[in-house]
Amino acid sequence: MTTFGFTLHATDGAARTGAIATPRGTIRTPAFMPVGTAGTVKAMLPESVAATGADILLGNTYHLMLRPGAERVARLGGLHAFMHWDKPILTDSGGFQVMSLSGLRKMSEDGVAFRSHIDGSTHMLSPERSMEIQRLLGSDIVMCFDECPALPASEAEVARAMRLSMRWAERSKAAFGDRPGHALFGIMQGGVTRELREESARALTAIGFDGYAVGGLAVGEGQEAMFGVLDYATGFLPEDRPRYLMGVGKPDDIVGAVARGIDMMDCVLPSRSGRTGQAFTRRGVVNIKNARHADDPRPLDEHCSCPACRNYSRAYLHHVFRAQEILSSMLLTWHNLHYFQELMAGMRAAIAEGRFAAWQAAFHAKRAEGDI
Ligand code: GUN
Ligand code: ZN
Repeated sequence: MTTFGFTLHATDGAARTGAIATPRGTIRTPAFMPVGTAGTVKAMLPESVAATGADILLGNTYHLMLRPGAERVARLGGLHAFMHWDKPILTDSGGFQVMSLSGLRKMSEDGVAFRSHIDGSTHMLSPERSMEIQRLLGSDIVMCFDECPALPASEAEVARAMRLSMRWAERSKAAFGDRPGHALFGIMQGGVTRELREESARALTAIGFDGYAVGGLAVGEGQEAMFGVLDYATGFLPEDRPRYLMGVGKPDDIVGAVARGIDMMDCVLPSRSGRTGQAFTRRGVVNIKNARHADDPRPLDEHCSCPACRNYSRAYLHHVFRAQEILSSMLLTWHNLHYFQELMAGMRAAIAEGRFAAWQAAFHAKRAEGDI
């Protein structure tokens, strides 16, 4: 059996390209992970998600434990079989979603008790229960249970949450145990404070993980502050393990993160925007609901090979969006996921060939031209 492993193929400045081997297939890095929160990437068949070039999906402990329930998914053969996706799945551990979605919640050293946003029922998550749920789901890459403090937060509050997350990381590792072919990633916290980030990285590397995530970013601090943290934070992490920036982001965030040594990312943006009529293209964001598209026979992007661009005009995409047809979400989500995967493929090739700086310059120049 292939065990889990990360191979770095090339670096260009701080940017890296490589591959994560798993028993369910290889993840080419830098990798973008579409979000399949509730066991589906909304508006997409799993085979369509694979056709966009995705090597791995993200699923959520929080949503799946509430509905349909982790034990039920396990009885039905695990999340891969349940949702018909046989490539790798990374699952987030639930703490972040509890903070952002659930109603009443009570934090303690042990974990967090909370009310479901679906039916108000009470539940609890701890490092141990999160590890159990992610095992029941059959997740390939399991995330430590952490606390990401809600912003705005004082430095003292950020430090408290980071230190709690480090104690939880230790408990997560103990509860995860030894599971060949499955990986456990630690999550760095510490807000925008360099000393806290360094302390967090030291604590995580002392425990030892298969990969390291940078958490607690893209929570409203702004791109400049986020890049400021990434400028030093990736350097605190081991070179021979994948680095995952959680919840990022817009195309220019992703490019900037890769330039600073990030290997994996996830974001709802391409799928969510697909349902609100926003398309990402090489020239920036196109709002398909805009009246200027109503008579436009051209494709969304003449250089894109996705079904939305190959087979339909802007006028048609505008029409199905305005008419609130389900196909609108399907086509725009497909296009957006295709665009994000092409972005990653472009960066992987450029890093491998040592021309990432030129690739970045061309990326920004094309966007500056705007949509035409
Ligand atoms: N998703 C985005 N940011 C975070 C974070 O800090 N922790 C976790 N667990 N998930 C996230
Ligand atoms: Zn397209």
